[in-house]
Amino acid sequence: MEMDPPPKMLASLTITILMMMMATSVALASSDAAVLEGQARALLDWKASLDNQSQRALHSWGNTSTPCNWRGITCGTGMHRHPLVIKGIFLQGMRLRGALESLNFSTLRTLTRLDLSHNLLAGSIPRSIEVLGELHALLLQGNQIRGSIPLGLGNLTKLHSLMLHENELSGEIPSQIGNMSSLVTLNLSSNHLVGHIPCEIGHMKHLVALDLSSNNLFGKIPSNIGGLTELTSLYLYSNKLSGQIPRELGYLLNFKDLQLGINTLSGSIPRNLHNLTKLTVLILWGNKLSGLIPQKIDYLSNLQYLSLGENILSGSIPNSIGNLTKLTTLSLRNNQLSGLIPQKIDYLSNLEYLSLGENILSGSIPNSIGNLTKLTTLSLRNNQLSGLIPQELEYLASLEYLDLSENILWGSIPNSIVNLTKLTILYLYNNKLSGHIPRELGRLVNLKDLELSINTLTGSIPNSIRNLTKLTTLYLDNNHISGHVPRELGRLVNLEVLYLGPNTLTGSIPNSIRNLTKLIDLYLFGNQLSGHIPRELDYLEKLEELDLSN
Ligand SMILES: *[C@@H]1O[C@H](CO)[C@@H](O)[C@H](O)[C@H]1NC(C)=O
Ligand SMILES: *[C@@H]1O[C@H](CO)[C@@H](O)[C@H](O)[C@H]1NC(C)=O
Ligand SMILES: *[C@@H]1O[C@H](CO)[C@@H](O)[C@H](O)[C@H]1NC(C)=O
Ligand SMILES: *[C@@H]1O[C@H](CO)[C@@H](O)[C@H](O)[C@H]1NC(C)=O
Ligand SMILES: *[C@@H]1O[C@H](CO)[C@@H](O)[C@H](O)[C@H]1NC(C)=O
Ligand SMILES: *[C@@H]1O[C@H](CO)[C@@H](O)[C@H](O)[C@H]1NC(C)=O
Ligand SMILES: *[C@@H]1O[C@H](CO)[C@@H](O)[C@H](O)[C@H]1NC(C)=O
Ligand SMILES: *[C@@H]1O[C@H](CO)[C@@H](O)[C@H](O)[C@H]1NC(C)=O
Ligand SMILES: *[C@@H]1O[C@H](CO)[C@@H](O)[C@H](O)[C@H]1NC(C)=O
Ligand SMILES: *[C@@H]1O[C@H](CO)[C@@H](O)[C@H](O)[C@H]1NC(C)=O
Ligand SMILES: *[C@@H]1O[C@H](CO)[C@@H](O)[C@H](O)[C@H]1NC(C)=O
Ligand SMILES: *[C@@H]1O[C@H](CO)[C@@H](O)[C@H](O)[C@H]1NC(C)=O
Repeated sequence: MEMDPPPKMLASLTITILMMMMATSVALASSDAAVLEGQARALLDWKASLDNQSQRALHSWGNTSTPCNWRGITCGTGMHRHPLVIKGIFLQGMRLRGALESLNFSTLRTLTRLDLSHNLLAGSIPRSIEVLGELHALLLQGNQIRGSIPLGLGNLTKLHSLMLHENELSGEIPSQIGNMSSLVTLNLSSNHLVGHIPCEIGHMKHLVALDLSSNNLFGKIPSNIGGLTELTSLYLYSNKLSGQIPRELGYLLNFKDLQLGINTLSGSIPRNLHNLTKLTVLILWGNKLSGLIPQKIDYLSNLQYLSLGENILSGSIPNSIGNLTKLTTLSLRNNQLSGLIPQKIDYLSNLEYLSLGENILSGSIPNSIGNLTKLTTLSLRNNQLSGLIPQELEYLASLEYLDLSENILWGSIPNSIVNLTKLTILYLYNNKLSGHIPRELGRLVNLKDLELSINTLTGSIPNSIRNLTKLTTLYLDNNHISGHVPRELGRLVNLEVLYLGPNTLTGSIPNSIRNLTKLIDLYLFGNQLSGHIPRELDYLEKLEELDLSN
């Protein structure tokens, strides 16, 4: 049986150990000083490789014995709590121009943060970066870095944050990336990456945000992304991804933001997506998704932004969509949706953007649309909507963009439309609208584009049109508008396109037309205009298309 050593021996042993520690401490301190000076020299070498303006920006970089005071450099204690080594380089947004690979990383193993984001650095990410085993954050976004992602990045197992977005990186995403098991944020968006998304990405169990958007990635979305249970944001938009949306994404119950738009994903929207009740943003826009909009979409009660447009979804819009009362944006445009606009749409009182255009919706526009008083954009264009334009539109006082064109709406344009004084775009063309153009149209002083063509409007062009001086485009053709071409048109000095025929206008072309010096297209044909063509048209230097024939 072993016995504890007697107290005296213990004391002398302690002293010996203490002396040994002091000795190594001195050795380490001096070697640390040498380390720091070596690090300073590596940084100075890099500085010398940068352009003159960058060197001026780094003028505090000089005395190799004090790099901890240099701009953008932070130091910390080295190993065994000995001073001092370089821990951080923070040089974001300084217009530094040069190459990353001129920085000798082998002396900088103590770095925990390297932030060179938003500079003008070119060149590639050197292989030697793999020695930075202590790195927590590598932020190189917003430069002009080329070449491929080095496999050695996989060695940086302490990395939490890897930001390489907005560069010119090419090649494939190496499967070794999955070795960065501490990664929380990975942003590779806006590069030129190709190939498949490596399924090893499913090994990074701590990932919270993953952004591979705006590259040229193809193949399927790996289903084991469904194992990244801490993920809150997944952006894969603007790639060439195909196949189905893996149903495993429906397991990621922490998802807040799922953006898969502008790919070629097909199949139907997985039904279990309704489990993602924390979602605030769901963008599947611009794919080839088919089938129905999931009936239980109402479970996503935190959704603020829902965009399913530009797919081939069919069936009707589920009435339950009315439960998504936090929605500010709803786009279902350009699908094959049929049936009625859900009556419960009036519950979406936070909507600012509503686009249901380019579907085959029928029935009338519900009056309750007038409850959506925050709307700035409303497009129902190119459906089979019939009936009257609801009077209640007048309550949409924030509306800037209103497009009801290419439907089968009848009746007259409600006079109350002139209350929508923020309108810049008003498209009502290609319907069956009759009656007069509202006399007080001139109250819509912000209009830039007014298109009422291909209806059966009668009466004359209201004089108040003189007020619409911001108009660049005015289409009134293919109606039964009569009376004179008003002199007041001469006030619309920003007009570039003016279509007034065919109609049943009479009288002569007013001289005031010479004022419209920005005019490119002028169509007056198919009217009953008399008199001679005013010489003033000679003034219209930009005119490219002119048709005055009766
Ligand atoms: C940079 O500065 C050096 C010395 O100050 C000078 O010789 C050189 O011409 C400069 N280069 C440019 C591109 O301005
Ligand atoms: C560098 O800094 C050290 C310590 O502050 C100082 O003693 C030395 O004189 C400086 N050297 C130069 C060339 O400025
Ligand atoms: C980088 O630094 C290390 C250590 O100081 C040195 O051995 C190596 O030669 C340097 N590499 C380059 C390319 O200068
Ligand atoms: C990087 O990882 C590879 C494979 O695990 C290993 O062979 C290599 O030695 C590592 N490099 C460094 C600098 O640790
Ligand atoms: C790194 O990743 C590669 C490819 O995924 C794998 O083969 C290798 O074992 C990993 N290395 C380590 C050290 O985990
Ligand atoms: C990636 O970076 C871009 C550009 O700064 C940013 O807009 C995007 O939100 C980032 N992605 C994630 C998932 O944070
Ligand atoms: C997710 O939805 C499916 C039905 O689509 C259901 O069976 C499952 O229990 C849900 N999972 C969770 C965790 O709520
Ligand atoms: C949707 O609203 C209806 C009543 O308007 C309600 O019965 C239903 O439970 C709601 N759905 C969810 C998922 O809350
Ligand atoms: C819509 O407006 C009408 C009339 O103003 C009102 O009776 C109705 O309750 C509103 N609907 C909602 C869901 O607020
Ligand atoms: C529309 O304008 C008229 C005339 O200015 C006004 O009487 C009416 O109250 C306005 N309607 C709304 C909903 O603001
Ligand atoms: C023309 O616009 C002004 C505001 O700029 C407005 O007060 C006036 O009522 C408008 N005139 C007509 C005829 O709408
Ligand atoms: C031509 O435009 C000017 C403003 O640029 C305006 O003052 C003038 O009244 C216009 N002439 C006619 C005939 O409308």
